[in-house]
Amino acid sequence: MNDKFESIKQEILDGIDGLASSRAVYDFKKQFLDSKTGKIGQLMKEMKNIAPEERAGFGKGVNELKEWAQQKFSELDEKIREKELKLRYELERIDVTMPAEGRETGNLHPITQMRNEIIDVFSGMGFEVFENREIENDYYNFTALNTPKDHPARDMQDTFYLSPEFLLATQTSAAQIHTMEEKKPPIKILCPGKVFRSDDDATHSPMFHQMEGLVVDKKITLCDLKGMLDVFVKKIYGESTTTRLRPSYFPFTEPSVEVDVSCFECGGKGCKLCKGTGWIEILGAGIVNRKVLENCGIDPDEYSGLAFGIGIERATMLKYGINNIKLLFESDLRVLEQIDDN
Ligand code: PHE
Repeated sequence: MNDKFESIKQEILDGIDGLASSRAVYDFKKQFLDSKTGKIGQLMKEMKNIAPEERAGFGKGVNELKEWAQQKFSELDEKIREKELKLRYELERIDVTMPAEGRETGNLHPITQMRNEIIDVFSGMGFEVFENREIENDYYNFTALNTPKDHPARDMQDTFYLSPEFLLATQTSAAQIHTMEEKKPPIKILCPGKVFRSDDDATHSPMFHQMEGLVVDKKITLCDLKGMLDVFVKKIYGESTTTRLRPSYFPFTEPSVEVDVSCFECGGKGCKLCKGTGWIEILGAGIVNRKVLENCGIDPDEYSGLAFGIGIERATMLKYGINNIKLLFESDLRVLEQIDDN
């Protein structure tokens, strides 16, 4: 019998050396110590074949063998687990002194950046901001702005009509009427909004953004307009930028002007950007037409106003030298990532 115990012992000792993982230890251990199929467990079943006087010694021998094996396996198990743990630490090691990987952060869309910059400049001058409406009726978009149904100036803007009465706003100027109906002077407001015109080429998109400005108070003149716009262009295009006013026509302003900025690319000498003229057209503006004030119940003998409308895409394209408006709407990250002033 002792031979059998010894041979099992030897079998364990021989097998143990080749075990490299805790999984292998577990499987090998099962061959001996599994209560049903293990070789040591099997020994117990042979008890009935043993002479009664030898049974006690046999049982003791099996138990000793079992304890020895359990001890052996648990020592081995501990050693192997420790080794495995060390290996894992090595593999998963993190070098905390390595420079961190740069994280990609998004940035605001150029149009939103420009919109925020313009708002910043004018709120510094005391303007309040109101969001514009995207759907207007004929009265606010045209008639109240001194552009009645048969007025030729309606052709200046290719309107998307939703019905004979409703349309997609073609200009943020409708905000002038909404504001003057609701507030009495002094008024100093800024209205960013989306506007829509059936127009589509390298510099025009059927949807674009405008920023309307309106000031109504006593003794407002073109000088106030020029002063405010001078501050605006210096902040956006650089301190050496200046403005000039050119006569123009809008039904809702009289006089009306087109505002040019001195070319910030060449400083006025003439280049590709300003088409050799030294000046770049940037926005439309003027003194609020008396008829518009009257339409809103404001006495034009007591009050006067100035208004301007900035094209946000145009202001953005000029600032960053973008020559096709589509680049602003194609969501190409290679373009958008280059424009981050925040
Ligand atoms: N609404 C005009 C346009 O879209 C711009 C403008 C605004 C002109 C305010 C004068 C005063 O062309």
